[in-house]
Amino acid sequence: MKIKIAPSILSADKNNLNKEIKEIEDYADLIHVDIMDGRFVPPITFKADEIKKIKTKLPLDVHLMVENPLKDGFIDDYSGAGASIITIHSECNEDINLLIKEIKSRNIKTGISINPNTPLDEIKPYLDKIDMVLIMSVNPGYAGQKFIEDVLPKIRELKKLKPELDIEIDGGISKGTIKKAFDAGADIFVAGSSIFGKENRKEAIAELRNAVK
Ligand code: DX5
Ligand code: ZN
Repeated sequence: MKIKIAPSILSADKNNLNKEIKEIEDYADLIHVDIMDGRFVPPITFKADEIKKIKTKLPLDVHLMVENPLKDGFIDDYSGAGASIITIHSECNEDINLLIKEIKSRNIKTGISINPNTPLDEIKPYLDKIDMVLIMSVNPGYAGQKFIEDVLPKIRELKKLKPELDIEIDGGISKGTIKKAFDAGADIFVAGSSIFGKENRKEAIAELRNAVK
């Protein structure tokens, strides 16, 4: 099966985003864009203007770690900045059905993410309405954290429940952990430090792909 690799530009050099993206573009499948509001998680990351300036042939996979995706304008800003997928968190403060409707009405694929401690049950009512589930395998906020293996049973359960749904995993993915997530049923693998933390990005991505063969 063909897996998808989504390098997270949270770990890239923010002052040279287009140069960083050039280095991975021919080997990756998506560009993962982590957006944080300083409230859902302490850091603040990219502004929509910075994302708008990205030049790439790859789809932008926008992960909103924010409290109010709609009210605070994140859905508008990042759909305007060229997102192909927008993922909201089940733990955010707004109505999930409304958020799904708003994202879909902008012709963008819809994802829902759950934190490591959030049970799959929380999102079961929405699975028929979305394109992707993002399983967090670290607590959101920072790159370079250790992979939490306890999330693997959620991936297995979800795969069984909805085999056609894309399952993305985010946090602590490296050549040492990717196979576990793959075997559990994940299809899309976000990786920050294990790609942008390496000198040779082409080789880093090849190592991730080889680890699931
Ligand atoms: C964490 C972010 C991740 C992060 C992953 O809050 O959602 O996308 O960039 O970084 P690594 O791969 O280093 O764990
Ligand atoms: Zn992310």
